[in-house]
Amino acid sequence: MKPGFHYVNGQLCVDGVPLSELAEKHGSPLYVYSGALLQANYRRVAKAFAKTDCLVAYSVKSNSNLSVLHLLEQEGSGFDIVSGGELERVKKVGIKGERIIFAGVGKRADEMQAAIKHGVLEFNLESEAEAERLNQVAATMKRKAPVAIRVNPNIDAKTHVKITTGKKENKFGISMNRAMALAERIRTELTSLELIGLHCHIGSQILDSSIHPQVVSVVTDFAREVMARTGAKLKTLNFGGGFGIAYKAEQKPLDLKPFADALLPELKKLGVKLILEPGRSISAPAGVLLTKVEYFKQGEAKSFVILDASMSELMRPTLYDAYHEIVPVLKARKGKTAVLDFVGPVCESGDYLALDRESFVPAQGDLLAIKDAGAYGFVMASHYNTRPNPAEILVVDGKAQVARKRETVADLMKHEL
Ligand SMILES: Cc1ncc(COP(=O)(O)O)c(C=O)c1O
Repeated sequence: MKPGFHYVNGQLCVDGVPLSELAEKHGSPLYVYSGALLQANYRRVAKAFAKTDCLVAYSVKSNSNLSVLHLLEQEGSGFDIVSGGELERVKKVGIKGERIIFAGVGKRADEMQAAIKHGVLEFNLESEAEAERLNQVAATMKRKAPVAIRVNPNIDAKTHVKITTGKKENKFGISMNRAMALAERIRTELTSLELIGLHCHIGSQILDSSIHPQVVSVVTDFAREVMARTGAKLKTLNFGGGFGIAYKAEQKPLDLKPFADALLPELKKLGVKLILEPGRSISAPAGVLLTKVEYFKQGEAKSFVILDASMSELMRPTLYDAYHEIVPVLKARKGKTAVLDFVGPVCESGDYLALDRESFVPAQGDLLAIKDAGAYGFVMASHYNTRPNPAEILVVDGKAQVARKRETVADLMKHEL
């Protein structure tokens, strides 16, 4: 059976399980993940770089459900975390420090302490001030913290402005000049840090396969310079994630071959381990958000399909102008088309899942699947309008398991007085 979401006898299924059955049993809206696709997507990345010593550190922020982490742990994945909360998640799944990378621009001292205690493989340093704080925390613990400086190469990833991270106006990383000065300070002054690598992540949803090779050239040249000028023996080069996926039918997922072709000879010359931090390319295509049509509303200027899912469950369309394909769970619904806005019940004009979409015309009560919602979907869900978060279902070996229970309104009020 082909992993993922496919029509079988006119019914959209996940790894062979009809989505309508899941919605009937667990309600809607509902997040559903294909375990087989998560595995296949992880393996695709691992295979592309299998000829070198490589840690594929799945980016936990993209989908941090414990069952998803557990599944990827079994694949041998590493994990890229950005908070003390995500550290607790990977610890709960039993991940050893040597498979964990700690990134993020605003690490607190207590988070640093917990990560040092757990023995993380490296901290990605985002600023001089962070280096000073980490140095102090490590010194107090009488430990040396392994660090990779996150360099900002000022390369345009040609992606959405809100997911571009490698330009000089972005808050991420340190310019090459200042990174060199910081490397020097680590050698001479910040002696509770050990400089073991460089890190670079210039953006997300990158589809242009010429971008990563440019980054390889800049970062590997810089690595040589750092080693020559400071005497540091770099052990790792971390190129982040950002591998784009095909949200639209006419798109193709990022071809990893040009990246691997540019990278592998350089890594061999430098004798360093490769670290990657893919999130979206592993988790996005492996998930859908199931939703029911509550109403059809003919407005004065537009036609609205009002869903039981909203921006509270999937914020990407309104946050990033993101496109998610919307398909009927019953194939027979395809046919007549119209230009429609798919909106939610939340009291915001920005509450939409698709705008001006040339689409099949669903009927009230129809079950729809919003595709490629496995990354930056549930993890960004809010409770706005006192909407309890939906359940998450993970299908493993053809069996559906509840990966997270549906919240209740009582859950939402639990911490209030
Ligand atoms: C430092 C870093 N690494 C990895 C990722 C994962 O990116 P993606 O999900 O696009 O692969 C991100 C995403 O924002 C990031 O900021």
